[in-house]
Amino acid sequence: MNQSELPELRIGPFTVKLPIIQGGMGVGISMSGLASAVANEGGIGVIAAVGLGMLEPDFNKNFREANIRALRREIRKARALSGGVVGVNIMVALSDFEELLTATAEEEVDLILLGAGLPLKVPQILSPDRVREGASRLVPIVSSDRAAAIILKSWEKAGCFPDAFVVEGPLAGGHLGFKREQISDPDHALEQIVPEVIRAVRPYEQKAGRCIPVVAAGGIYTGEDIFRFLGLGASGVQMASRFVPTVECDADPAFKMAYVNAAKEDLMIIDSPVGLPGRAIRNRFLEEVGAGVKKPFKCPWKCLRTCDFVNAPYCIGLALTNAKLGRLDDGFVFGGANAYRSERITSVHEVIQSILAEYHAAAERDVRLHRREPELSVAGGCGETSGF
Ligand SMILES: Cc1cc2nc3c(=O)[nH]c(=O)nc-3n(C[C@H](O)[C@H](O)[C@H](O)COP(=O)(O)O)c2cc1C
Repeated sequence: MNQSELPELRIGPFTVKLPIIQGGMGVGISMSGLASAVANEGGIGVIAAVGLGMLEPDFNKNFREANIRALRREIRKARALSGGVVGVNIMVALSDFEELLTATAEEEVDLILLGAGLPLKVPQILSPDRVREGASRLVPIVSSDRAAAIILKSWEKAGCFPDAFVVEGPLAGGHLGFKREQISDPDHALEQIVPEVIRAVRPYEQKAGRCIPVVAAGGIYTGEDIFRFLGLGASGVQMASRFVPTVECDADPAFKMAYVNAAKEDLMIIDSPVGLPGRAIRNRFLEEVGAGVKKPFKCPWKCLRTCDFVNAPYCIGLALTNAKLGRLDDGFVFGGANAYRSERITSVHEVIQSILAEYHAAAERDVRLHRREPELSVAGGCGETSGF
């Protein structure tokens, strides 16, 4: 492989020409529109399962049914729009996680990404055979080697292994798998935790008899960033914020413009009602909540098991749905630490072209700097070091 070309990413039977997973973004930010556009460009497009039913007319009466119905519809739409690789992101902390997981597996979506919690019961919910041989490949999202090791040990006992891991660092958008004080601690930086997770995963590749790729996420914005993380041994990257200000992104234009108009210092850490910190773009809603204002709501479905909805100053599901629909006075926008870098709304194709050029330039610089042979592969990912 020529070093200035992006390497392919292989997860189970799926090979994509770009080692880029588009991060799942709820509520309703990455649906079939964005996911199919990224898949058509040769990356992996991801639909976020959380709260899709909030956009259905009968949501208040039948939230579980509405969520499943809307998710199945989005998966089928994405399939109709793209023959590429499409995944679904399901948050483990959701109160209807099991139903969403089962429905997604029934739809035989290519990848299921399991975020916001430890997916320890997945082999029991789907059956170990289905995890081993089912059409959907399973990819837990972790923020530490400890979490990866707990999942690996627990799935091994059930006789199966994950197909890949995403490691999400503290610069990501949305809910973060860190304590507030860890967010700026260099020991928890993505550059630190990616090699740690790779070390935790490698011994299990021998046991699984196959490669278990590790994908880096959180604050990765340019092709140069991708070059850096592949150099650290990642097999690919997951990127979310860079895909928000695109015509294909499923949010209202006002949501996308919040990215375009944001300054670096507008990205702030909030304490989400679900008991986790999150990264979002400062606005009046968040300032009022920060000043102690309560935004009254009725909780229709207790979407996240960890939500303290009795004491919560606002409903996060409602606030994020309002933002998706462009009602930013009644909600707010999640974004990664680099979300402020976009200058205009563009297309997924343009984003990919720009990433390819940035990657190429970084690789060329590296060749010049280290006087390497250009044919040498930069990637120390799966296959390079594990023997598979
Ligand atoms: C608007 C938004 C919504 C998100 N929603 C989810 C989600 O529903 N589930 C999840 O696991 N991660 C979610 N994330 C995290 C992303 O999937 C991704 O891993 C992370 O944002 C990567 O960092 P980046 O945005 O700097 O590229 C969200 C991120 C954003 C910006």
